[in-house]
Amino acid sequence: MNVFQLVQDRFKQALAKIEGAENAPAPLARSNRPEFGEYQFNGAMALAKMLKQNPRQIAQQILDVVELDDVAESLEIAGPGFINVKLKPQWLAKQVETALSDARLSVEKEPAKTVVVDLSAPNLAKEMHVGHLRSTIIGDAVANVIDFLGHNVIRQNHMGDWGTQFGMLIAHLQDKLQASEVATTALSDLEDFYRQAKVRFDEEEGFADRARAYVVKLQGGDAECKKLWQQFIDVSILHSEEVYKKLNVNLKHEDIMGESAYNPMLADVVADLKQQGIVVESQGAQAVFLQELANKDGEPSVFIVEKSGGGFLYSTTDLAAMKYRSFELGADRIIIFTDARQAYHFKQAELVGRKGGLIKESTTYEHGPFGMMLGKDGKPFKTRTGGTVKLVELLDEAVERAEKLLAERDSGLTAQEQKEIARKVGIGAIKYADLSKNRTTDYIFNWDTMLSFEGDTAPYLQYAYTRIKSIFRKAGLDASDFNATVIIEAAQEKALAVKLLQFVEAINGVSANLTPHLLCSYLYELSSLFMTFYEACPMLKDGIPEETKNSRLALSLLVANTLQKGLDLLGIETMEKM
Ligand code: ARG
Repeated sequence: MNVFQLVQDRFKQALAKIEGAENAPAPLARSNRPEFGEYQFNGAMALAKMLKQNPRQIAQQILDVVELDDVAESLEIAGPGFINVKLKPQWLAKQVETALSDARLSVEKEPAKTVVVDLSAPNLAKEMHVGHLRSTIIGDAVANVIDFLGHNVIRQNHMGDWGTQFGMLIAHLQDKLQASEVATTALSDLEDFYRQAKVRFDEEEGFADRARAYVVKLQGGDAECKKLWQQFIDVSILHSEEVYKKLNVNLKHEDIMGESAYNPMLADVVADLKQQGIVVESQGAQAVFLQELANKDGEPSVFIVEKSGGGFLYSTTDLAAMKYRSFELGADRIIIFTDARQAYHFKQAELVGRKGGLIKESTTYEHGPFGMMLGKDGKPFKTRTGGTVKLVELLDEAVERAEKLLAERDSGLTAQEQKEIARKVGIGAIKYADLSKNRTTDYIFNWDTMLSFEGDTAPYLQYAYTRIKSIFRKAGLDASDFNATVIIEAAQEKALAVKLLQFVEAINGVSANLTPHLLCSYLYELSSLFMTFYEACPMLKDGIPEETKNSRLALSLLVANTLQKGLDLLGIETMEKM
């Protein structure tokens, strides 16, 4: 049940009955002042202008024909011609009961589309860093939501496993193996390994030439180079998978479709574009000139697809990936998450792809750029000595910090339980702190705020969930199998019921705008409304009538179910106790 949709549809039907208004837009807004109702129809003013009539009279005309008796207890015209819709408590109560008995919480499936989500995509030459934390968890949350809405989601981990730096890396690895080191040991610290290789590349006589020769051999399919490269890649992937496991993300080995996988397709893509006359030679390189993105002086933007002297690039790979996803995988939507610095690249890629027919007209190409994670000093997040922060260490620290915090609480939990809870709290805190920020802006990483049990944090939401579960335990009731007649009387009950039914609106927002923070703020508002309700509407106190108690328990349980589902979609675990 999507209340917003339903109310809007009723207004659309009403407009269809008014002469001249048949196709008028039906803008609806949520109102934030419950005394004016929950939704507001704003279409009368524009319509009045169009029909050259008085807006309040138009509003009255709409009011006369709109059929909302079952849903609304009152409709009122306000100001210049707004129509305020106040929902009926009995109707809301029924919707809460229905949602409570439905594992999908009354969120209907949409007609299924095929949606490719390009996420995580670390560069395997190096250790996964904080930038890839964002591409991993934002991508995962959005993919979960779209999947929940009934779509066929194909995750693609576009790992950076190809490119010139691999020549130097496999040459260095070869020497290590010859000195009888084992690959996993030699590569236990990728950052270190990279540094060593780079020093040799810059300083050691002959090493750079060998590295370059290896790149050519590797691209030409030389078996020995390929084998070394494979060993490097395998170990590096294990590093990433360790992070995925700790992070609790839905990313499987099969989701890996790295840059190297497109290597065999690159020459054809370029040849095809050449043949269409889209690619031209420019200073020895092969490039596409994009007048659409011309600068102030009218000079076109240049998108290089083949280097001078041969060799393909990151850009070429993205064109091949676009074609593969649109035509082979049959994507209706292609969604890619990377840091904001790549926004221009994807704009160019889409233009080239559309010109060259590398993407079906019906496939959308959506880039979800994100801002940077910053340290307390407002500069890019680094270790104290200025190095890159390894994700694994960051996650371990989160869990340790959560352990300390939980140990200070008098929870009556066993050590084992506390350890498990600390893991969920620590990881949840890091993820939520990131996901709850507007995706496109930079944000400052702060341990203290993210781990706080107060405010807009994962621990706060997890705690709200356990609190409801403990109410059920106290009442001696089985929360997995509870329902009751819901009665909505108090203002706090109504506000809570309305918010509960808006879950689907939050979910839809995430899917449409690729913004998990909309779901985060929804869950936070829901928890806050629950706390207010909990203060005002006692459940287990003596003298509370049985029907009132059960109704309030039912409302609370739907809050718990919604929190659990919402957090689960964000990739954050809940627990029964904490
Ligand atoms: N490996 C790239 C990076 O770390 C991200 C790749 C994203 N996906 C893509 N299709 N280009 O920046």
